[in-house]
Amino acid sequence: MAYNLLKGKKGIIFGALDEKSIAWKTAQQCYNEGAELVLTNAPVALRMGEINKLAEACGNAPVIGADVTNMDDLKALFEKSMEHFGGKIDFILHSVGMGLNVRKGKEYTDLNYDWNHKTFDISSMSLHRILKTAWDLDALNEYGSVIALTYIAAQRVFPDYSEMADAKALLESITRTFGYYYGVKKKVRINTISQSPTKTTAGSGVKGFDNFISYAEKMSPLGNAPAEACANYISVLFSDLTRYVTMQNLFHDGGFSFTGVTEAVLESMTVEI
Ligand code: NAI
Repeated sequence: MAYNLLKGKKGIIFGALDEKSIAWKTAQQCYNEGAELVLTNAPVALRMGEINKLAEACGNAPVIGADVTNMDDLKALFEKSMEHFGGKIDFILHSVGMGLNVRKGKEYTDLNYDWNHKTFDISSMSLHRILKTAWDLDALNEYGSVIALTYIAAQRVFPDYSEMADAKALLESITRTFGYYYGVKKKVRINTISQSPTKTTAGSGVKGFDNFISYAEKMSPLGNAPAEACANYISVLFSDLTRYVTMQNLFHDGGFSFTGVTEAVLESMTVEI
């Protein structure tokens, strides 16, 4: 269902890798809601070619490569996007994450710090880099909206999430602090959405992910929130209906974050005495 929530708005979507990606579903939803888009991902991800299908389905949106750790790439991305749109940008989705130690099987207590540094650069500092680029180019319209995706491991321990927990805590902190400055300067809103575990390429990289996803399903009164529902929520936060929401970490998790225990989990724990 579409409500024309984003009619006339222009946005950049980072991180659509394949059709499972949260960014992919968000791009589709934003397009359905009337937005014009630029799609971007790391040059190596663009070589897979999948994103071209999404671009076509989104009114032949331009696809512009940018490594989120490279300031020159980001500057070129914003300049080309403004040229394409013929003006400034209304929204940005940061849907980017990569845990190098997680991916290479290095435990949290035995991190390779070069990889750890790269993890933070890609997954967290990239948000600062994107915002700083937009700030310097004055690329965002008043009441622009920026969303980054995060996970509850930033607040509570989920051991296998490892270094990504620290990366998400930093991402959420940048959201608050830059949200302050950009709010004062330009009324730009910056929020994170803390999403349920979702079967995507990045999600599946976490050890024991399948068990974990069914645990979260049992622990959430509404069940795990699907990627499509996340895309809907993001569209609302990009719209003018949420102009005074900023610097928040917004849980989109079927109630998981505020549930102590559920009957479904208790039943699975039952022991005979
Ligand atoms: P995904 O694997 O589809 O998306 C991750 C994206 O990051 C990919 O498109 C990848 O190419 C991009 N990326 C990696 N390194 C990059 C770089 N140097 N420059 C530019 N882009 C780069 O997976 P998903 O799940 O859609 O992830 C999107 C966001 O959602 C991530 O921040 C993730 O941590 C977050 N998230 C995911 C959850 C899940 O269970 N899947 C739960 C909560 C948050």
